[in-house]
Amino acid sequence: MFEHTELFERGVGSTTDIVEKEMYTFKDRGGRLITLRPEGTAPAVRAFVEHGLAGRPLPAKLYYMGPMFRYERPQAGRYRQFHQFGMEVIGAAGPEADAEVIAMPLEIFRAMGIQDVVVNLNSIGCPVCKPAYRERLRDAYAPVLDRLCTSCKSRYDRNPLRLLDCKSEECRAALPEPPTIFAQLCPECSAHFDALRRLLDKLGVGYVINPRLVRGLDYYTKTTFEYNVGGIGSQDAIGGGGRYDGLVEECGGPPTPGVGVACGMERCVLAAQANAADQEYQAGLDVFIVSLGDAAREKAFEMAHSMRRAGLAVDFDMIGRGLKAQMRYADKMRARFVAIIGDDELAAGEATVKDMSTGEQKRIAQAELATCVRRL
Ligand code: HAM
Repeated sequence: MFEHTELFERGVGSTTDIVEKEMYTFKDRGGRLITLRPEGTAPAVRAFVEHGLAGRPLPAKLYYMGPMFRYERPQAGRYRQFHQFGMEVIGAAGPEADAEVIAMPLEIFRAMGIQDVVVNLNSIGCPVCKPAYRERLRDAYAPVLDRLCTSCKSRYDRNPLRLLDCKSEECRAALPEPPTIFAQLCPECSAHFDALRRLLDKLGVGYVINPRLVRGLDYYTKTTFEYNVGGIGSQDAIGGGGRYDGLVEECGGPPTPGVGVACGMERCVLAAQANAADQEYQAGLDVFIVSLGDAAREKAFEMAHSMRRAGLAVDFDMIGRGLKAQMRYADKMRARFVAIIGDDELAAGEATVKDMSTGEQKRIAQAELATCVRRL
C-alpha cells in the first residue's frame, strides 16, 4: 500500500503532477519518507526486482488490484482514494506484448457491459529519438512561454513533453498545435509502432492516433494508450498504460523491457452504469425460498444451504414474514424463482416453484430443486 517515496520520484518522474502535487507522503516512526502508492507500476517493478523475477522465466505477467491514492481535486470520477486493476508484462520487447496488453482490458470492458470504448494510441519514442522531439517542442512553445502556467514554465526546460497534457485552461488556450513526434521517431520506434498497428488491426481492435497522448507518467517509452468512454463526465479515461523499457533498470534491475495497463474501477462502474439502460445486467437471487410455519422455515434453512453449495444464489426468510411480505421481498431481491414450502409441500417432500418472469408454477421434489433450477 505504500513504498519508499524515492521509488515514485525516480520511477514516475519528478516533473509529473503525481510527484509534484499529488502524493500522500509522510515520515514513519523510523524517520523514513514513505508514500501511499499513487499507482501500481513502479511498485510492481520494485517487487519484480526485489524478488529476483528477472532470473525466472520471462516474460513475467503480473496483475494487481487495490486502492491507490492521489491528492487531486475530487469530482465525479476523480477521487483521492480510488481503485485500479492493472497488469504488467515484464521481459518482452516485441509489439505483440503491447497489443495483448491493449486488447485484454477491452474484453473486461465488454464483459462489464461498457460500450463504445475509444482506444487512443500514440508513441512517444525512446531515449534515442525523444531528445530531438523535446527540442522541436521547445522551439514550438518558446513564443508563448510567458503565457503559460507556472508548472509549464518550470517544466519547459526539464521536460517539455509534459506541456502537452497540461490541464490548465490558460495553457490549453495559449499552446499552438504541437508538432507530432512521428517524423522524429527512430527507425526502431517507428517499426515498433507500425507493427503494433498491424497487430491491433489483426485483432479487430480499432484505435485513434492521438499525438498529444503523452500520459501523466515519465516512465513511458514508445507506446502510450488510453481508453475513453462517453457519458461519464470529464473524467472519461477508464484506463491507460504504455511501454516502459527503462523502468526496471531505473529501479535497480537488469535492463528489461516492460509494458502494462491499469484501469480505474470506479470509472468502469460509472461507465457500466451509463450503459445500463440498454442492459439486462442485474444481479439477483436464483431462488428465494418462501416458507410458511416453523417446520417449513427449518426446511428452508437446510435447503438454502445445500443449494448454495450447488453454486446457486439462494436466500430464505429468517425474520418470520407472512406469505405476501415474503413474495414482495423475493421480488425486490430480483429472484428468478421462488420455491414455496407450506404444510402440504413439507409433508410431500416437495416445493412449489414459481418462475417470477412468467408466473408459471409447478411442484418439484425438494431433492431435485437445485438441478431443476439450473436447467431452467
Ligand atoms: P493512470 O492513467 O495514471 O495510469 O491511471 C489509470 C487509470 O486509473 C485512469 O485511466 C483512471 O481510470 C484511474 N484513475 C486515475 N486517477 C484517478 C482518480 N483520482 N480517481 C479515480 N480514478 C483514477 C497508471 O496509473 C499507470 N500505472 C498505468 C500503467 C500500468 N502503465 C503501465 N502499466
